[in-house]
Amino acid sequence: MDLAGKNVLVTGASRGIGRAIAHVFARAGARVLLTARTWEAVVAEADAIVSAGGQAWAHVMDVTNTQSVARAVACARREVGEIDVVINNAGACCQGYFVDENPLLAHHQMEVNYFGALRVIRAVLPGMRARRQGTIVNIASVVAAVPYPTEATHSATKAALVAFSQALRAEVADDGIRVVVVLPGHTDTDMGRRVSIKGPLVQGPEQVARVVLVATCRGRRQAVAGTSNRILVLASRVWPKLGEDAMASTARRSFPGARTPKEGTADSSEPACPAEQVGRTVQGKSR
Ligand SMILES: NC(=O)c1ccc[n+]([C@@H]2O[C@H](COP(=O)([O-])OP(=O)(O)OC[C@H]3O[C@@H](n4cnc5c(N)ncnc54)[C@H](OP(=O)(O)O)[C@@H]3O)[C@@H](O)[C@H]2O)c1
Repeated sequence: MDLAGKNVLVTGASRGIGRAIAHVFARAGARVLLTARTWEAVVAEADAIVSAGGQAWAHVMDVTNTQSVARAVACARREVGEIDVVINNAGACCQGYFVDENPLLAHHQMEVNYFGALRVIRAVLPGMRARRQGTIVNIASVVAAVPYPTEATHSATKAALVAFSQALRAEVADDGIRVVVVLPGHTDTDMGRRVSIKGPLVQGPEQVARVVLVATCRGRRQAVAGTSNRILVLASRVWPKLGEDAMASTARRSFPGARTPKEGTADSSEPACPAEQVGRTVQGKSR
């Protein structure tokens, strides 16, 4: 697929991997719609893309709020037309042992990582089906394929997203819609820095963004970001115990002893989407 002039909506584009995806897709000629809860951050990133000669729009969107998703998508459609590519990247990860886990944080992760993606897909799918074209890109994680102790819930949310994507792919194929899944490994972002993992190579968000770009353009079913992660995923498909043992040993070294989650690992402290910003767009600027 040639991305020139395509409308690409990215969730969680205020920082980290989503921010890098927005910039990489804009450089490839896409018209990028950046969304997240933090208005100032998405506007700043949209401004940076426009200053570099790209096309970008900013919208507040909280993927845990159906109205917020509907409003942002409606605003985006009014501004640029139908969405060609949607990238479900917004995510939350709270590390800790399951015995210590606050059940609210388990629900929060499922709400953002799984139900959040479903809300966004529901909002864009009718437009894609009507035009008989579109690409849905879901950012999962290596832990969907090789679950990581101390991230049991996070692993489960990402495995759910992968299973959903595989079933959806077959359901929408006849409508001309493609479903792409990308599995990043440990990545140097706010989320990656909050998680204690010793051992696996840490990749930069730009590296992951380039994998997302190639997978989207080539319509790949699934792409794993990073060579060592690809080897890990492949090896655990053949020898599941090998993957489980590798992850268990890394978790033991990185997060020793049962204890309550570290300060700052819980996303519940993050600000909610301010009501007055929901559905707002960059006013009076042609982007
Ligand atoms: N970093 C890693 O090691 C790693 C590894 C594998 C997979 N991943 C996956 O890659 C994706 C991006 O991760 P990252 O490392 O870039 O994380 P990050 O640095 O923590 O950024 C998360 C992004 O999601 C947004 N977000 C969080 N909750 C949201 C909500 N309710 N509604 C809308 N946006 C929300 C945040 O923006 P606001 O706070 O402004 O809303 C931010 O833009 C996630 O799905 C993550 O699970 C990351």
